[in-house]
Amino acid sequence: MKDLGKDIQKIRKDFPILQRQVNGQTLVYLDNAATSQTPQQVIDVIVDYYHGYNANIHRGVHTLSQEATDAYEEARKKIQSHFSIGKPHEVIFTSGTTHSINMVANGFASLLKEGDEILVSAMEHHSNIVPWQMLCEKTGGTLKVIPMNENGELVMEEFHNLLSDKTKLVFCNHVSNALGTINPIEEIIDAAHNVGAAVLIDGAQAAPHIKADVQALNVDFYTASAHKMCGPTGVGMLYGKEEWLQKLPPYQGGGEMIAEVTFEKTTYADLPHKFEAGTPNICGGIAFGAALDYLNSIGMEAIAQYESDLLEYATEQLLSIEGLRIYGTAEDKTSVISFNIEGIHPYDIGTILDKLGIAVRTGHHCAQPIMDFYGIPGTVRASFSFYNTKEEVDVLVAGVKRARNMLL
Ligand code: ALA
Repeated sequence: MKDLGKDIQKIRKDFPILQRQVNGQTLVYLDNAATSQTPQQVIDVIVDYYHGYNANIHRGVHTLSQEATDAYEEARKKIQSHFSIGKPHEVIFTSGTTHSINMVANGFASLLKEGDEILVSAMEHHSNIVPWQMLCEKTGGTLKVIPMNENGELVMEEFHNLLSDKTKLVFCNHVSNALGTINPIEEIIDAAHNVGAAVLIDGAQAAPHIKADVQALNVDFYTASAHKMCGPTGVGMLYGKEEWLQKLPPYQGGGEMIAEVTFEKTTYADLPHKFEAGTPNICGGIAFGAALDYLNSIGMEAIAQYESDLLEYATEQLLSIEGLRIYGTAEDKTSVISFNIEGIHPYDIGTILDKLGIAVRTGHHCAQPIMDFYGIPGTVRASFSFYNTKEEVDVLVAGVKRARNMLL
């Protein structure tokens, strides 16, 4: 396994944005859980596409269209391989995880009946809560919540107690965006399957750090967004087991998702096209594939090890600041630190950090139930990637100390 520490300056050179100045300071980008930065290798693929073979796919006999189709389908295979997905048509291109989840929720509207129960975890992003609430409104289903404890870990005994033959679906993130907790998804998937429930795992926050093997997990649905994985915004994927994708109705109607259309009746295309209506984000899909190539050239295990060291160092340094509390202290977590300083609003800390060139996210992180659980309006969230350094952690810690001195 590579030691990224040795190569870190070389890796950082791949990311042109890391050279930029913000408010007269060199950017320290610690908002990777919101979106990751893009390496030159992926930017080049985007530029090459528009310079060389920009065309619509699956539609033209002309050379450009065939080149674009080949590159797009090649990217689907890269996603298949990265997530150990059995068949390429089990990979559906989407605009991102929110789109992926809504696609599944919409599909289940025709399969659920009144009294069916859906379980979600207490630490979900709004995108893994609201679609299921909408689904329950349509079907008369009931949403039940797997609680969490003070450390930001799911209370698994409660989860097992909530499961019954009424449970039809279980939804959980692999990693919490607000806390960094890595959830015990293997246990969740197995137990849900034992009562006959299907499971969707939101992998948006896990995929930049952990390579999921969906076949080994035996999960029914798994999602990821390219922009958290060094790819562009506006593209992501839904993995669905073939049997589920066959069972679910299409999400949107339009071109490309049909077999035959008459005014009397339309039949749908085979997978994956049944779920891919309209012209997709072709360049984005191709660049998603390139981003996976980039991550794999560095090595996901090396990334996880490097980020874990960074997390340990940053946690220790931040905790040395008086009055600072970290939310999310699970044993298993990714490189996300959500914190507050007693007596200071997170927004004020974020604003001062920005003046110092440090980018963090502040607020409820689209996870209001987590903030309600802790009785806080929000947190400051520093989320680290494999291109961050201990020196940047030091800049963050100095910035937070300065903010504290100014605001208290
Ligand atoms: N879901 C993204 C975040 O956690 C946007 O910041």
